[in-house]
Amino acid sequence: MVKNILCIGAGYVGGPTMAVIADQCHDINVTVVDINSSRIAAWNSDELPVFEPGLHDVVMRRRGKNLFYSTDIPAAIKRADLIFVSVNTPTKTFGEGAGRAADLQYLEKTARSIIEHADSDKIIVEKSTLPIRTAQALARVLSSNEKGIRFQILSNPEFLAEGTAIDDLEHPDRVLIGGLDTPEARAAMEELISVYAHWVPREKIITTSLWSSELSKLVANAFLAQRISSVNSISALCERTGANIDEVAYAVGRDSRIGPKFLKAGIGFGGSCFKKDILNLVYLCDYYGIPEVARYWEQVVAINDFQAARFVRTMLGAMFNTIADKKIAVFGFAFKSDTSDTREAPAITVCTRLLNEQAHIAIHDPKALENAKADLAGAPADRIAYCTDPYEAADGAHALVFLTDWKCFRELDFKRIYKSMRHPAFLFDGRNFLDHESLYALGYHVYPIGRPAMSHFEQKD
Ligand code: NAD
Ligand code: UGA
Repeated sequence: MVKNILCIGAGYVGGPTMAVIADQCHDINVTVVDINSSRIAAWNSDELPVFEPGLHDVVMRRRGKNLFYSTDIPAAIKRADLIFVSVNTPTKTFGEGAGRAADLQYLEKTARSIIEHADSDKIIVEKSTLPIRTAQALARVLSSNEKGIRFQILSNPEFLAEGTAIDDLEHPDRVLIGGLDTPEARAAMEELISVYAHWVPREKIITTSLWSSELSKLVANAFLAQRISSVNSISALCERTGANIDEVAYAVGRDSRIGPKFLKAGIGFGGSCFKKDILNLVYLCDYYGIPEVARYWEQVVAINDFQAARFVRTMLGAMFNTIADKKIAVFGFAFKSDTSDTREAPAITVCTRLLNEQAHIAIHDPKALENAKADLAGAPADRIAYCTDPYEAADGAHALVFLTDWKCFRELDFKRIYKSMRHPAFLFDGRNFLDHESLYALGYHVYPIGRPAMSHFEQKD
């Protein structure tokens, strides 16, 4: 029976995932460690390092009881029966495979630290998203220990989405566990199943081979991102033809074989994983000698880049082909709503392009302003304002641009904002989530995604 769980890596996955395990399994002690001591200090404070609806309550319920955040990695490794490895696996920026392959240095360092400090047999669980057959490399590193310790390696990828992480963890569609077909590995899988079985119905716990499990995670993200690129590619056609992408997506998604989810057109997907995981898949296909498949998946990322670029081109075209010295109010910087995370946020690309056109930008986001400052640290500071007050951001602006679909943006006083703006007042809805008709009626020139612009100029012409 698993009594002591350790998670190495206290990030967006490790922190919330372990909090939910501790909340659901009062009979198990859960420790989360990280080399980043300020992150651990934040997990031990009232200001958690990750904003996630419901997370604060879960952490406060269990912290100090059976949930511990610590920097004492050696002691935690010694104590653990089962170790989740949830370190970052970013895209490699150097050497072979740069720009596509996963950088596995953090994973390998973790494995070496496990060997150094472990003094008994352990189950090691890959929680990070990894290239297929990483478990084999991990096994080779771990089995190089000279203490006679045996490690069972399992794959248990995480499918949570940020902004809904707690609900996703408490009510997962499925839990995937991969392992080798040996008696020891099967026993280790049963141990991990018994942890999840505290709250996840048994029929939702899927077991597969190690390699299928590792690959399924990359493929799940690739399929989700592919749907977004598919709908975004059609949004470009809608804008030129008078069709409405939301209507098209609804009609297409009503086919039960297709389904309605992940068909929301916008400025493109962001987040730390979709792009990195597809690029990793592309790298693996090339590595295994199937370039045709690699080129197929590469297009999902290419369409995503195209979508952000053409969004800025639309802005520029609408605003008489110059935005130099114009003030643009940017609403939303997080890569999606309900998170402060800005990793790979489309807002970074859009803001950088607007600044390249010498616009002044005033950014407002309810949760992500600090991350926005870090992301734009290298940009000309005299042309960027960070506003906690949305009305201050909009005051005197030539245009509003919505880059995150925060619910609170729908409740803004758009009449008041219109009055405080320079006219003609432009509004670009990069998330297609505002009430375009009523904004148009207030006097805005409205530019949605995937449907023709609603401009007052054309009526007068
Ligand atoms: P993150 O960067 O937020 O967290 C990773 C943490 O690991 C960091 O705090 C880092 O300091 C720590 N770390 C790195 N090396 C370490 C070491 N040797 N010892 C101890 N700690 C170490 O990353 P994340 O968003 O939590 O993602 C982690 C993994 O989970 C990635 O592989 C990612 O692809 C995958 N994933 C992420 C999400 C998500 O929503 N963010 C969802 C599913 C899967
Ligand atoms: C995604 C997956 O949904 C998770 O299952 C997976 O575990 C995770 O990646 C991961 O591996 O990191 P996440 O990136 O947190 O989760 O958030 P999503 O809800 O998937 O949104 C990703 C991006 O796509 C956001 O920028 C979002 O705005 C955009 N999106 C999403 C659309 O543009 N349209 C949609 O219909 C859905």
